[in-house]
Amino acid sequence: MNYETLLENIVKLEKIPSIVDVDGTTVNLEKELGAGGSKTVYQIELDNQKYALALPNLIDHPMIRLRKWYNAMSEPENTNQFRNAGLITNDISEIIVTTINGISIPAILMKSYDEHDFDIYDAKNHNKSHKFLLPYIIPTNEELEELFIPGLNDVLTLVENGINIDSDSFNLCNKGKVPRLYFNDLGNAEFNSIDDTTIAINYYKKQFLRTFVSTLNDNSYRNNQLAKTISESY
Ligand SMILES: Nc1ncnc2c1ncn2[C@@H]1O[C@H](COP(=O)(O)OP(=O)(O)O)[C@@H](O)[C@H]1O
Ligand SMILES: [Mg+2]
Repeated sequence: MNYETLLENIVKLEKIPSIVDVDGTTVNLEKELGAGGSKTVYQIELDNQKYALALPNLIDHPMIRLRKWYNAMSEPENTNQFRNAGLITNDISEIIVTTINGISIPAILMKSYDEHDFDIYDAKNHNKSHKFLLPYIIPTNEELEELFIPGLNDVLTLVENGINIDSDSFNLCNKGKVPRLYFNDLGNAEFNSIDDTTIAINYYKKQFLRTFVSTLNDNSYRNNQLAKTISESY
């Protein structure tokens, strides 16, 4: 079946059962890991490894669903480009043919967040909270600056590569034990499309700080004047 036919099959989906076929293997949709405006992401097991499988949301009108999935299909390629630029993304993002009640569609296979060897702090569906700013410990300005250097470097990398992405793609992680940006949901990313670098740097800096604060737990936030100061600055 060619790619267009597979994609058009999206409109035929009516319901997601608990068992689907992923590239010829029968798998259980073990649990829902999260959902957004276009995808529902399930945990599956393939060859004794846990993966995340993104399937289209069925709430939208089928034609809207088709348009959103068409965009989502750019995600693996865009993810590669981010990774090649030195940014942190999922190291697996590939289109995989998934058959749902006899209907074959292109789905997206990823590594599950839990399978990474660092923690990922999802900015939209809160899974865990980081401790980069522990309550009651007020770092000096120097320590604070140092804390933010790796993330601010990610901001510069985005701008150097002319990358245009919206706020939905920003998450945080602790790769290398420092706060770094973790990017997902890259279907709409554009490259070499920044007009004004100063505006872009300022905008992405704010996104980084917003992501940092939004992934703190309530307690760290409430008890930390510094976190409040940061959140007031964007
Ligand atoms: N690889 C993954 N491992 C675990 N959870 C994931 C993974 N990818 C996405 N999710 C969860 O699914 C949600 C929706 O994914 P996202 O790509 O943002 O979808 P949408 O395009 O609908 O916005 C995320 O916010 C996250 O909670
Ligand atoms: Mg999203």
